[in-house]
Amino acid sequence: MGLVMKVLVTGGGGREHALAWRIAQSSAVEKVFVAPGNAGTELEEKLQNVSISPMDFDALIEFAQSEKVDLTVVGPEDPLVAGCVDRFAEAGLRCFGPSKSAAQLEGSKSFTKAFLKKYGIPTGDYRAFDEIEAADEYLDTQIPPIVIKADGLAAGKGVVIAQSIREAKSTVADMLSGNVLSGAGSRVVIEEFLEGEEASFIIIADGENFLPFATSQDHKAAYDGDTGPNTGGMGAYSPAPVVTAEVFSRTIDQVIKPTLQGMKDEGHPYTGFLYAGLMIDKEGRPRVIEYNCRFGDPETQPIMSRLQTELVSLMVAAIDGRLNETEISFDPRVALTVVMASGGYPGSYENGKVISGLREVEGAKVFHAGTTMKDGEVVTNGGRVLGVTALGSSVLEANEKAYAAVNQISFNGAEFRTDIGYRAIARENA
Ligand code: AMP
Ligand code: GLY
Repeated sequence: MGLVMKVLVTGGGGREHALAWRIAQSSAVEKVFVAPGNAGTELEEKLQNVSISPMDFDALIEFAQSEKVDLTVVGPEDPLVAGCVDRFAEAGLRCFGPSKSAAQLEGSKSFTKAFLKKYGIPTGDYRAFDEIEAADEYLDTQIPPIVIKADGLAAGKGVVIAQSIREAKSTVADMLSGNVLSGAGSRVVIEEFLEGEEASFIIIADGENFLPFATSQDHKAAYDGDTGPNTGGMGAYSPAPVVTAEVFSRTIDQVIKPTLQGMKDEGHPYTGFLYAGLMIDKEGRPRVIEYNCRFGDPETQPIMSRLQTELVSLMVAAIDGRLNETEISFDPRVALTVVMASGGYPGSYENGKVISGLREVEGAKVFHAGTTMKDGEVVTNGGRVLGVTALGSSVLEANEKAYAAVNQISFNGAEFRTDIGYRAIARENA
């Protein structure tokens, strides 16, 4: 690889804008292509959008070969679960992310639950079912609330926390009959409801060694006070105060190390970003809710805003199996992201609303998600539209700076939560 690298990032959300922006800050990087990207990546220096779908591996490989791309970074989970990294490797191209077999940690909840159980990694009790009758019999022995999950990828829509056994049974019946989620629901996992506070624990791994990113927390519920329907995430901040030094070291010892060792032993060594969604109980015990085989969205936005080490050198070291020789450091300040969404999200919404005020923003970085350029203007093009991100010496300060910027930006129907970080702010005031 030359000293001046060309990088290709696949995906077009806020995560990919933040990853590409951070990669482009390296003096070793000449250009970052983003496929397909969004208006934010189109306007950013050194970045160039390419209109190829992240799932069109043939076209991506052809592009990487013809443009002499040195490194491809896969943003979303779908192409990873479908084997994007394996296809690039067969073509002799460097591609950062887990192989298809390693990406099962996100692609199959039943694989992951069996894996966690086998290696003694803390998680909720569970059973997997393919048939309604057996699932119903099991549910008759359970006490609600109880968690029902579709086995495959369902973009966050495959989880129902049932408040009664009757609701649990009808959810299982819907999922197994394929009425709700085609494909993803041919098997269900029924899981113990875990109580506590959630945190996102993301690492970079090289198959054996790893480095942890700064911790973070996201807000998945659509409305203030963590109420309303589940979304991809309405905001996030880093660090997560619930992850104390003790919780951090427990997570490394009880979760991360045995996971990487187990995946290696199973013949699926894990290279890439690995995101553990944790539930931390009152005693500070972490349990795994889920694994994701990619960076979090919107967690990427605050974490990349704090990352001081060059991201591209971390990824190259991971591909080369040299993370043990590498260090990682973070800005000690808090970073906080407020997501601005289209009116109606996570339900149906309209695209094409002109976004104004973006140029006036000061003291915050605006990562784009669902945006595109139309007649020279930035317009909405998705549910989650922008991730407005600010750094501060406290969560409160980061929150105030982010909301000052949010208030400068407007588009028809814009929705956002007004309380991102409220739990952490309450801790600061305690
Ligand atoms: P998942 O798609 O597995 O990330 O689940 C989405 C959300 O549902 C999680 O972020 C949690 O808020 C919630 N959830 C999932 N599983 C559990 C569980 N076993 N106990 C409590 N909450 C859960
Ligand atoms: N913010 C949750 C996720 O990326 O899955």
